[in-house]
Amino acid sequence: MNSIPYPSRLPLAQLPTPIEKISCSLLPRSGALWVKRDDLTGTLTSGNKIRKLEFLLSEARGEGCDSVLTCGGIQSNHARTCAAAAASLGMNCHLFLRGGADAPLEGNLFLDRVLGADLHFLSAEDYSRRRDQLMQEFADRLIREEHRPYIIPEGGSNSLGSFGYILAAEEIYHQVRQAALPVKGLVCAVGSGGTYTGLWLGTRLLHWDIPVWGINICDSAAYFQERILGEMERAVRRFRLPVTIRPEEIRIVDGYVFSGYSQAPAEIHLCIRRLAAETGLILEPVYTAKAFYGMVQEWEKGLFGPDPELLFLHTGGLFGLMTSHYSPFYA
Ligand SMILES: Cc1ncc(COP(=O)(O)O)c(C=O)c1O
Repeated sequence: MNSIPYPSRLPLAQLPTPIEKISCSLLPRSGALWVKRDDLTGTLTSGNKIRKLEFLLSEARGEGCDSVLTCGGIQSNHARTCAAAAASLGMNCHLFLRGGADAPLEGNLFLDRVLGADLHFLSAEDYSRRRDQLMQEFADRLIREEHRPYIIPEGGSNSLGSFGYILAAEEIYHQVRQAALPVKGLVCAVGSGGTYTGLWLGTRLLHWDIPVWGINICDSAAYFQERILGEMERAVRRFRLPVTIRPEEIRIVDGYVFSGYSQAPAEIHLCIRRLAAETGLILEPVYTAKAFYGMVQEWEKGLFGPDPELLFLHTGGLFGLMTSHYSPFYA
């Protein structure tokens, strides 16, 4: 096996996270499911984003930066994780959030405030059209004030951030081999594509010929197919990764966006409640529950073959569940 050319990394996450076998009445009878508990990578740094930030913030520190700028939705898990990690490193954190300043102070947004992040609220239009420009303008201002800013893109998803899940793929590979688990496919949520990109590249760098399924929770499979392919190509070029990208092996499964990002119908909440009550595992409606629900539907339809033995990546996000937007479903 080739050794993977990892860039420098700051150990910020609690690793390795465990893999647990689960049984639940939501799952079809045939097959088996394991869950990779990346919801346990930390407390304020729980979830998938901290794995990417280990590489991104290492670069930031290496460049002598004292301030981090990033962006996301008003309840962004990435933004909260970034605020927590930056605070732990003594760096300033500026968050550019999609949504109004009058958004309820709850869930991740509440933690952003507690963690002392500087919050910039952008309209939906500014966020979609100008967020990178606005972050750059603010970074230029910080430079004039003699700070050294480091800009992290949405979701921490760029070629450097994808190493977080290249390393996670290696962690999973060794755990699966050591415990002789018959895992034959990996499944994760796709929100900005970085987690999927890293997992896929990691398995190929390890010559681990296992399908990686991503369930998009916003936009469309075609959109992510292209975005992920672009990110993979950039990572392969920038870090000279010995991988041949086969676009037909980028498996994104559409059909579980429902009415849009963060919009989840009653069946998603039912899935959360049943899984929680039967296993103690808590998903959230924006990413992990849509992906889990989608996996179960596709399992029943036969997408994964007759007796699937799958590993579902739990990417965290618990704080996003604890918001007034969703509480009526749990009243
Ligand atoms: C809890 C959670 N799961 C999954 C994802 C999706 O990961 P990615 O953005 O790398 O596709 C995100 C963020 O987007 C997230 O916050």
